[in-house]
Parts: sequence; C-alpha cells; structure tokens
Amino acid sequence: MCGIIGYLGNRDAYPIIINGLKKLEYRGYDSSGVSIFHKDGYNLYKTKGRVYELEKKINRSNIQLKGTTGIGHTRWATHGVADDINAHPHISNSNNLVMIHNGIVDNYNSIKIILLNNGFTLRSNTDTEVLVNLVEYIKNENKFSLEEAIRCSLTEVVGAYSIAIVDRDDPDSMIIAKLGSPIAIGIGDGEFFVASDPISFIQYTKNVIYLEDGEMAILNKYKDLDLRKIINNYKLNPVINKLKIDLKEIEKGKYKYFMLKEIYEQPQTILNTLRGRLLVSSKVIYIDGIESNKEKFINTKCITIVACGTSWHASLIGEYLLEKLARIPVEVEYASEFRYRDPIINKNNIIIVISQSGETADTISALKLAKSKGAFVFGICNVVGSTISRSVDAGVYTHAGPEIGVASTKAFTAQITMLILLALKIGKYKSIINDNIYNKLCEELGSIPEKISTALKVHDSIKKISKIFHSMNNFLYLGRGINFPVALEGALKLKEISYIHAEGFPAAEMKHGPIALIDQKIVVVVIAPLNESYPKIVGNIQEIKARNGKIIAIINENDVEVNMLADHVIKVPNISEELSPLVTVIPLQLLAYQMAYIRGENIDKPRNLAKSVTVE
Ligand code: F6R
Repeated sequence: MCGIIGYLGNRDAYPIIINGLKKLEYRGYDSSGVSIFHKDGYNLYKTKGRVYELEKKINRSNIQLKGTTGIGHTRWATHGVADDINAHPHISNSNNLVMIHNGIVDNYNSIKIILLNNGFTLRSNTDTEVLVNLVEYIKNENKFSLEEAIRCSLTEVVGAYSIAIVDRDDPDSMIIAKLGSPIAIGIGDGEFFVASDPISFIQYTKNVIYLEDGEMAILNKYKDLDLRKIINNYKLNPVINKLKIDLKEIEKGKYKYFMLKEIYEQPQTILNTLRGRLLVSSKVIYIDGIESNKEKFINTKCITIVACGTSWHASLIGEYLLEKLARIPVEVEYASEFRYRDPIINKNNIIIVISQSGETADTISALKLAKSKGAFVFGICNVVGSTISRSVDAGVYTHAGPEIGVASTKAFTAQITMLILLALKIGKYKSIINDNIYNKLCEELGSIPEKISTALKVHDSIKKISKIFHSMNNFLYLGRGINFPVALEGALKLKEISYIHAEGFPAAEMKHGPIALIDQKIVVVVIAPLNESYPKIVGNIQEIKARNGKIIAIINENDVEVNMLADHVIKVPNISEELSPLVTVIPLQLLAYQMAYIRGENIDKPRNLAKSVTVE
C-alpha cells in the first residue's frame, strides 16, 4: 500500500506532487508528506492525516514551495504508528538523502543494528528510515556514487519496495527502484513523472514505462532515462506503453463518493466487459486469451482460482459456474493461504488469478509460486499494465475502468461477467453445455446492463430501510448456491465502510450454529431469488422469524411467499440463476453505501483499509 509520487523537470513540482498525492490517497491515507528540492537544498513537510491536512500545514507555514524536483508520499502504516515522525519522506543522518518508499523491508531490524553500531541515530520507527541510512552508510564507507550505493544496499534488502531517492547535492536527478511494489515512470518532454499508479500523472503524459522487479532507473532532467538491472548493472531498453485512461474516469462527477459513482456505472462497465467478446445475435463468445489456449482449457483436469477479498468472492461464483457449465472441478483458494501450504500444482494445472488492482502482494506471490511449479497461469485483472497482468501466461482485462472507492463494486460484477463468459466458452468447446441453455444465457447476458439499471432503482427503498436499521450492530447475510458468495460480499461491503459487524453464511448452515445468534437485535439479509433452492430458503426465513430476527429479503419481482414473510423486501429483476449474482449484489452494495452514509462515515476512505494491498 502507500502511494509514492515524484517529479523532475522544468515545472513547479509542488502542485504536481500535491495533486498527484490526492489521486493516490486510495492507496493509504494515515499520513502524508512532500519534499521539494531547489538549488539551496529542500523543504520537507509531513503530517499525520490526509493530504488536505498536509496542504493546510504547508499553507499555514507561509513558505512558497519552489523547485522543479519533488517527491511525495501518502502512507498506510506498516512499521510504526501513523504520526508526523513516521510519515515519509525520510532523510538520512547527514540530511542529504531523501527517500519515499512503498513496501516492507523484512530484515530492517538486522540492518538497524548494524547502523546503530556504526553511530547512526534513527528518529522514526520505520523501515524506510533504516533503508535510506543504509544507502548513506554504504555510500560513505565505500566512497560510492549514490547509484552504486543504492544498488549495493538493495541487494542486502529482503522484502518489497518501490523507492524514489533524491540527493540534496544533485536535485536534477532522482533514482527509483522496484521489487514487489509497483512503480511507473511517465515520460514527458524533458520531464519525468514517477508514481505508484500512473493515474496520478495522466493529465501530463500518457507515455509510461512500468519498472519490473529488480530494476532501477536513474533519472536526470538533462539526460535520457537510464534503466538498469539492480543485480548486475546490466543496461536495459525501456518499453514505453501508451495509457488509454480518460481523465473523466478518475473524477467523481456529480456523485458525492466514488463508491456511489462506481455502483451506478455498472450497466456501462458490464457492457465494456462484454464488448467484442459476446455477440448476442449469433451467440458467439470470443475471448482472446482463451482462443489461443483452447487445448489447455479443454484438457485440464482441474482449475484452481486464487484471489483475495472481493475478488475471492467472485472466484467462488466462478467455481459454481465452471463446475456447472464446463464440468471442470474447481478449487478456490485465498492467495495468502495458498502460498504457505505447499499446494499440489503441476504443469497440467490451470491456475486462474483474479485481481482488480493486479498489484495485490498475496496474489502476486501465489502467482509466482504457481509459475515456479510449471502451471499455466491465467489472469483476470482490471488495471491495464498492472504487475499481475504482466506476469501471467495469458489473461483478460475486465475493462471496468479505474475503481477508486476502496470498497470494490464495479470490479466485482465485471469479474463475474468475465467468469460467466469463460464458463460458457469452455462448456461450448467441450460440447458439454446444452445448446438451449447456452443460447438462453448468452441472450440474458446481453440484457444484464438493462437489468442492473432496473435493480439500481431500488435505491430509494434502500434509503428508507437504512434509516430504520442504521443503528443496529449486527447483520447476517444469507444466500444459497451461487448466491452464497453474494451474501459474503454483502457482509464484507457493510463491515468495510460502515464498521457494522456482519457475517455471510450459506442459509442452510444457520441451523448448525449461527442460528444461536438470532434475536430481535439482529438484522438478517436474505438473498432469495426464485430458483431451485427457493423453497428451502423460505424454510430458513421461517426459522429466523420464529426467533424474532428482522428480515430484509432480496427477492424477484414476481415473488409471493417471501414478499409476505419478510419485514422488508427489495425487488430485483428475474434472471437465470447463473447470472443472478449480477443483480442480487446491487441492492447489497447500495445498502452498505447508504448505511455508511447515514452513519457519517468516509465512504471512499474507510479506516485501516487501502485500495491496493501491496504488502503480504
Ligand atoms: C473489498 C476489497 C478488497 C479487495 C482485495 C483484493 O471491497 O476491495 O477485499 O477485493 O484486497 O484486491 P484485488 O482485487 O485488487 O486483488
């Protein structure tokens, strides 16, 4: 997590850095800082809290931050509490070297001991201050150039980093390096931008170089970019990518919060996921990354899907779809667990990794493990050019556009849409899926954007329901079959942004324990579309009612029974079971949003969270 940004060129650096930091805040927002360099040295400001508080502090100081080189950081604390001292940038003991860092230095304690034994003092509790002083120590001890000292220091580091360092004696240069955590360089005309995410500089340039693990770049205002391998100083040829993001996509527009904007964008984002992949009239599905690996998907004996959080919930829906429509056994794994339990993987396995950001450290580690065992790794990612998308053997983008709200919404429905396409495509390849079912699902998939638009109309009734329940402290979410992961997702959304305790369960599991929790102080959200398990879920609702639980039910428009039983109902359009999560999740996203809104929470920046989890 953490967002880093840098600028080197001829413009005033401060506005570029501060505005860039605001766009990177989704990566962490417990403290922030900037450093602007000029011919007489540098000014450095940092503070606990959000970027606007940093701005206020700088404005209060009445000092004009003038200089054409700058770095900035917005933090999600790993080592040391969130306070002014632990905020970045960090400086070396001589005050000469200034560093920002995203990642974790796992062996910082042993490096710290060496530094302390050699007369260094450390002001903060961070691993970053240890790292910048290690560079200074190695530089002075060996009479190295900064570049050599960084290279040598980084070979000592165990962990993950993306860093940017400036030496006050050479403010026309900046050195950046990467291992694990992302960093990109924007190439302008005689200027360089550096950031954890290029969305922070796209108004200036769309030409981007993504650093790969083990690479460092030496940037100088008057020279061409110099890209090197850290380990052997081998010179590399940079590959320039053209970004296709539009500035409007990263603005809130008429919405108060990105989360709401992103919920409302879903009819369009699903169209974008389907575009060029589903031809409804001829019922043809074309998925580039699959066509070229057709035999692998036909012949595989099993698929393992690896992901975290919301993407893991989408994976559970993928399990249901791939098993039902393509008859391939699927296992779904938490990326963080997969890596540490010696999983059985061989070269005939397909591992699908799903990630919105494409930067989740746990998922990247799982991917690397799968590749090291020779498995074929297929990625489903949203962020174009992200680490995961660049590391897989083949894959697809979900094309949901930038997701900025920390609570994932449109990325989830885009992932499900992609998984439906995948399951239908493989089912068709294997001639396993019945033609009528295939044609019906293709037809219905084409109508999903319209059905989601209809589902969004429940917002007003959700506002009323939220007013009734916003002070309740415990929620249970129940679903069955393909809607069980939707229950998990509904509960996750609620707890993430409104801090209300919520759990998701398969409805039938209630009687095996969770039913003990039911009384008049618990709200139970039941997902009850009309499908095969409907009669069973009616039974589960009766059991809750008998114990005085309050019931909010998500039902279909023509439902009769649950409509009468539940305390409150939210109606969504009818659709085949396989596609139902795409509509049943909409009211759950709105419910979480509305509850957090009434409780006055900062919806886009929930406490303790960050959008992109780049630490393990
Ligand atoms: C929840 C949420 C997280 C992410 C998880 C994985 O709203 O956003 O649970 O889903 O951190 O992130 P990605 O999909 O970027 O790998």
